Amino acid sequence: MRYSEELIEEVRARNDIVDVISGYVSLKKKGGNHWGLCPFHNEKTASFSVSGPKQMYYCFGCGAGGNVFTFLMNYENMSFQEAVKALADRAGISLPEQEEGPEAAQRESKRARILEINREAAKFYYFQLRDPRGAVGYRYLQKRELTDETMHRFGLGYAGKSGEELIRYLRGKGFEDELIKEAGLAVFTEKQGLVSQFWNRVMFPIQDLNNRVIGFGGRVMGDALPKYLNSPETLVFDKRRNLYGLNFARKSRAGNIILCEGYMDVIAMHQAGFTQAVASLGTAFTAEQAVLLKRYTDNVLLAYDSDGAGVKAALRAIGILRETGLTGKVIDMKPYKDPDEFMKALGSQAFQERIQQAENSFFFEIGVLARQFRMDDPEEKTKFHREIAKKLCEFSEDVERENYLQAVADRYLIGVGNLRKLVNSYITQTGLAKPAERPKSGIHSKTDPGENEKKPQRLLVTWLSDQPALYEKIKAYISPQDFTDELYRKVADRLFSQLEEGQFQPGGIISMFEDEQEQREVAALFNTSLPTLETAKEREKAFRDILLAVKKNSYEHYTEQMGGGVNDLKQAIESRKALEELAKTHISLD
Ligand code: UTP
Ligand code: MN
Repeated sequence: MRYSEELIEEVRARNDIVDVISGYVSLKKKGGNHWGLCPFHNEKTASFSVSGPKQMYYCFGCGAGGNVFTFLMNYENMSFQEAVKALADRAGISLPEQEEGPEAAQRESKRARILEINREAAKFYYFQLRDPRGAVGYRYLQKRELTDETMHRFGLGYAGKSGEELIRYLRGKGFEDELIKEAGLAVFTEKQGLVSQFWNRVMFPIQDLNNRVIGFGGRVMGDALPKYLNSPETLVFDKRRNLYGLNFARKSRAGNIILCEGYMDVIAMHQAGFTQAVASLGTAFTAEQAVLLKRYTDNVLLAYDSDGAGVKAALRAIGILRETGLTGKVIDMKPYKDPDEFMKALGSQAFQERIQQAENSFFFEIGVLARQFRMDDPEEKTKFHREIAKKLCEFSEDVERENYLQAVADRYLIGVGNLRKLVNSYITQTGLAKPAERPKSGIHSKTDPGENEKKPQRLLVTWLSDQPALYEKIKAYISPQDFTDELYRKVADRLFSQLEEGQFQPGGIISMFEDEQEQREVAALFNTSLPTLETAKEREKAFRDILLAVKKNSYEHYTEQMGGGVNDLKQAIESRKALEELAKTHISLD
């Protein structure tokens, strides 16, 4: 599973970060960097930078950062190894198979087998639906107004009354019972042995982005329960990371994606021409799915059921979309329950109008709130206004917050001045909502106890990476030992040896760490905002102050450690000496 460091470095070096990220984010060159809107948080002005010389990206808004591997890990939800693989593919580098342990290889071949067996099962269901014995299923789908073409496009099928036939068919194709079970197509029982998971249901094969069948949903044709039965999660079926219909929706040019609750909704929408419709897989919408959507669009329209449960699910989804930096709007389906029923009753023209009228998710949330308060009671009304003010605090950008404030005041007849006062009081009490934290990633907290010591160390690393030639001038005074944070020291160690050898590759330093969180911290080290200073003299002073701060901290650090051992003592003395030297020395920056 592990690749050698040299190989990883080759893969990284052959994938220019500006090229790779340009495939996802539109970037403009400004100064030495490329800039764009950060794909990891919601913003309207570009604070996401990509540096060619450093081969790193960093967002000055949310702190997301790393090298080309980190980017794929974050954006495509890949593991480090997967990112290495994907980029090796991109650059046409073949990775040695034997470096993957036998376990991984086995897993991979099992995945492939499950995909094969799923395909066979889908074929079997497909033919059953079109067989006289599957007439009940076919009639059911016809009654739901699906055309033959639609049934074909979505590969719909039918699982017959006797589940045994499928099992016999699959065995005949050479699949072992164990695999049939692992694919979630059947279960073992004491009495009957292998028993089919689905029977007497119309079948919806669930496809991934590459049109591979990863699982199934099956609907009963009457009122029996459960209404829908889904495949369990398997090696290939991850319900959190896939969306029904996305294989088609990704190719739609609608400019938005419509998120529905059910398979039937998606199919009815596609049939009516809305090929941008997708649905989650029998579970609530997840952050992983939002990230997936973000690859294709910034605008998500929610077409959830109009009942209470649907509204609740919509509110949840709105929160997730917002955290991912997607704009959410809500389509009103009333008086119909869901898009499928709406489409049948009013048709696509009317639906198109509903799309145009889709409500901004903020107003949708406020509308739901409004129904919880009695506006003729002053106390309730006040509470409502407070809730609005709290919601407004979630906008961290002043202009945006102010725009929403005015709009909401207008709509609910609240004095703008009063509402603003209320908002400001919440802001001073609790601070603005921080940029949403990405899963698995933390923002460097300002209250970190070591922060004061670490800041100059970061400044020094950034400065050196911007001006590598300075290394020669400072190496007599500063060593990696002066970086008192363990992660910083590892980075400095590598950076200094690169500079020593004249092989400056900061992007490669990030690959020393496989953990996203650490990669992000390393990227921050190389991307601290340096003071903007006009004159050479000011710059020299600033640089010198940074060196002195790093050295002084190092001295204090090792003095404190002094019970620790001879090495700490030596380091303390060395630091002391260097500090005195530094104080006497002039370091010019050119
Ligand atoms: P709905 O009950 O809203 O289904 O569930 P629907 O799409 O309107 O179904 P029809 O129109 O009656 O056929 C929405 C989704 O929730 C999941 C399924 O993914 C379904 O598409 N679900 C629902 C289940 O997984 N199990 C159930 O028993 C019910
Ligand atoms: Mn329905």
